Amino acid sequence: MKISIFGLGYVGAVSCACFAKEGHQIIGVDVNEHKVDLINKGKSPIVEKDLDEFIAEGNKKSLLKATTDVDYAINNSEISIICVGTPSQINGNIDLSYIYKVCVQIGEALKTKNEYHTIVIRSTVVPGTVKQCIDIIEDNSGKKHIESFGLGSNPEFLREGTAIYDFWNPPYTIIGIESEKSKNMLKELYKSINAPLYTLKPEESEMIKYANNNFHAVKITFANEIGNICKELGVDGHVVMDIVAKDKKLNLSNYYMKPGFAFGGSCLPKDVRGLNYRAKILDVKTPLLNSLIDSNEIQIQRGLQLIYNTGKRKIGILGFAFKAGTDDLRESPMITLIETLIGKGFNVSLYDANVLLSKLMGKNKDFIIGRIPHISRLLKAGAEQVVEEAEVIVLGNKSEEFKEILPHIPKDKTIIDLVRIEKNKQTGENYVGICW
Ligand code: UDX
Repeated sequence: MKISIFGLGYVGAVSCACFAKEGHQIIGVDVNEHKVDLINKGKSPIVEKDLDEFIAEGNKKSLLKATTDVDYAINNSEISIICVGTPSQINGNIDLSYIYKVCVQIGEALKTKNEYHTIVIRSTVVPGTVKQCIDIIEDNSGKKHIESFGLGSNPEFLREGTAIYDFWNPPYTIIGIESEKSKNMLKELYKSINAPLYTLKPEESEMIKYANNNFHAVKITFANEIGNICKELGVDGHVVMDIVAKDKKLNLSNYYMKPGFAFGGSCLPKDVRGLNYRAKILDVKTPLLNSLIDSNEIQIQRGLQLIYNTGKRKIGILGFAFKAGTDDLRESPMITLIETLIGKGFNVSLYDANVLLSKLMGKNKDFIIGRIPHISRLLKAGAEQVVEEAEVIVLGNKSEEFKEILPHIPKDKTIIDLVRIEKNKQTGENYVGICW
């Protein structure tokens, strides 16, 4: 394929070399003439293992050249990959000015091009950037998106030092583009890459890079804070974290990785507080671990805010033990939510099959009748009764029973889902998801 690559920095140079190695015809584009000269002499503009050799080879086979001329690059390629820098501004905001500038230039070049063109942004950009770039290119080319060009997001997952290896072995290939024609061209381009390929909406694709890198930062900081506490306790932090990482069921897995409501139950809140207190005694600063309880409380507030936003007063709660299949109400964040609603004078009705059973005979009977009588008084015998009485129905756990009820809830009632009762249900009409 004929590909132009904008930005001959770290990502751009590696992409040029690797695509040329695969036999594609590559034109690198940069404002920096020195970098352009280096590529045209078969030399690498950056230091990276094996890159010099690949660039020299691409140059020798006439598969790789570079230019500062955007018109030439656009008219001699079918796909453009944007890899220009997206640095941080002083306030932390991302500087997208280079991306926009390149899109203005691509738009102007497309004005006179008759063939269809595909453009992807490989640089890390905030969700919404693709939309902005589509507008810029439409304005500057006079052409229509989808009809004459397709533009989307295609983030990179390269690590400096192993970038060439990572190019062919990424965790996955992500294509976030609306145009079917462009999507198929990109699938063809990446067919030799040894990784699963996911096609998403542009905004989802843009967000993935941020989610990934922030997750990496959380992992590093978490390991450091645990390690710091370990050292003060005379424990080897590496022994602990090595074993933590061996748990592929709960720790390094998709478990606990689903956005939703606050955590609760008899272990997590207690143990987070316990470790934070120990760190405080040891004089070890643990801002990440310290933030967990605060962040959890904010999630309860967020759930409440969704309820307040409806402007309705009759609230029905379906499921309020801290997860489905249990009657444990200790530190259930749903109890905090319910108590806040009661305190603010909302009319609340509740249903939870397990809690109902416990109230009658289970081991939590004393807790339900003795410690939360104000809540137990609001319990109804069935979910239908709650749905009938309420104007707003809050789903608090993933019980199968609630999944079945969902399609029968009248459209004039609002459903607030804190648990994503169904994977593909999206906010819209009378349904609101807490994080989706
Ligand atoms: C860049 C992005 O910063 C990052 O968000 C993304 O995930 C990967 O790509 P990197 O390749 O390391 O990272 O950037 P950098 O080394 O700064 O290279 C950017 C190149 O773009 C430079 O060679 C620069 O001269 C060029 N450039 C910049 C242009 O060609 N045109 C411009 O308008 C601005």
